[in-house]
Amino acid sequence: MNIQAWNLDIGTMSKMTMTDDSSRLQVSPRVRESDGRDAGQTHDVKAEVSELNFFYGRLQALKNINMVFGANQVTAIIGPSGCGKSTLLRCFNRIHDLYPDTRYEGKIILQPSGTNAIGPETDPFEMRLRVSMVFQKPNAFPKSVFENAAFGLRLRGVRGKELEEQVEQSLVSAALWDEVKDRLHQSAYTLSGGQQQRLCIARALATDPEMLLFDEPTSALDPIATSKIEDLIFELKRKVTVIVVTHNMQQAARVSDVTAFMYLGELIEASPTKDMFENPAKKLTEEYITGHFG
Ligand SMILES: Nc1ncnc2c1ncn2[C@@H]1O[C@H](COP(=O)(O)OP(=O)(O)O)[C@@H](O)[C@H]1O
Ligand SMILES: [Mg+2]
Repeated sequence: MNIQAWNLDIGTMSKMTMTDDSSRLQVSPRVRESDGRDAGQTHDVKAEVSELNFFYGRLQALKNINMVFGANQVTAIIGPSGCGKSTLLRCFNRIHDLYPDTRYEGKIILQPSGTNAIGPETDPFEMRLRVSMVFQKPNAFPKSVFENAAFGLRLRGVRGKELEEQVEQSLVSAALWDEVKDRLHQSAYTLSGGQQQRLCIARALATDPEMLLFDEPTSALDPIATSKIEDLIFELKRKVTVIVVTHNMQQAARVSDVTAFMYLGELIEASPTKDMFENPAKKLTEEYITGHFG
């Protein structure tokens, strides 16, 4: 089995001591127009993106992105198809490095460690351990429910009772435990699509990631399953910093604290979600969210 490939899916194998409040960086709000720093509240910073450019060969897919992601917040990224939402998300866990002829410029500084996620000195494999991704289509492995949730833990050498406890904990955190506790050893494929997506979230959470990235996590789900995932995303921010890419503006409004609007590879505006939808700072944003676009 190709461990690297598995890691694309499970993301995270490392423990972060995010529970130790004293170790967190305390940052005062810094006012800067339209980049999410003027949210009006004091939040610890989880990630600071500065002067980020990204290239697929000669195509520049991200253009001078500057933005702060607050710790234990949900940030939604919206914008028309092809504007660079997924590309931005994938910078955080260095998935791009697996493909030839891709290039980053700038910095993504993670706190409290100060690691530059895209720095040449940072091991892409390490970033895939620290930042977990949940994809559009549930990608449960062809294994039991238990083994899906246990996957990353096993790679880290967790065994026996401790493994069982941590699997249970991750399934509880993913709001799935009650539905699967009597069928832990059945194939994950016996679960519904929404349950499989929550299993993927449990698998991503099991090893305590610093950040959880969702790329259109409910596009393949029905409204009830979608609503459960949205509730879960809202809950998860207690544990972890979340970025969710969505083409659904109602979803952004429901789950996020801050919303970022991207267009043609640029960040047009990032604002507290309420402000973004009630009183966007930029005309382009207003046109997009009111459907008067292009
Ligand atoms: N693997 C790739 N190779 C080359 N170009 C790509 C690749 N993935 C995306 N792109 C291009 O980068 C731009 C941004 O794409 P993407 O980040 O997928 O947008 P979004 O997620 O907002 O729909 C688009 O022009 C897209 O065609
Ligand atoms: Mg995309």
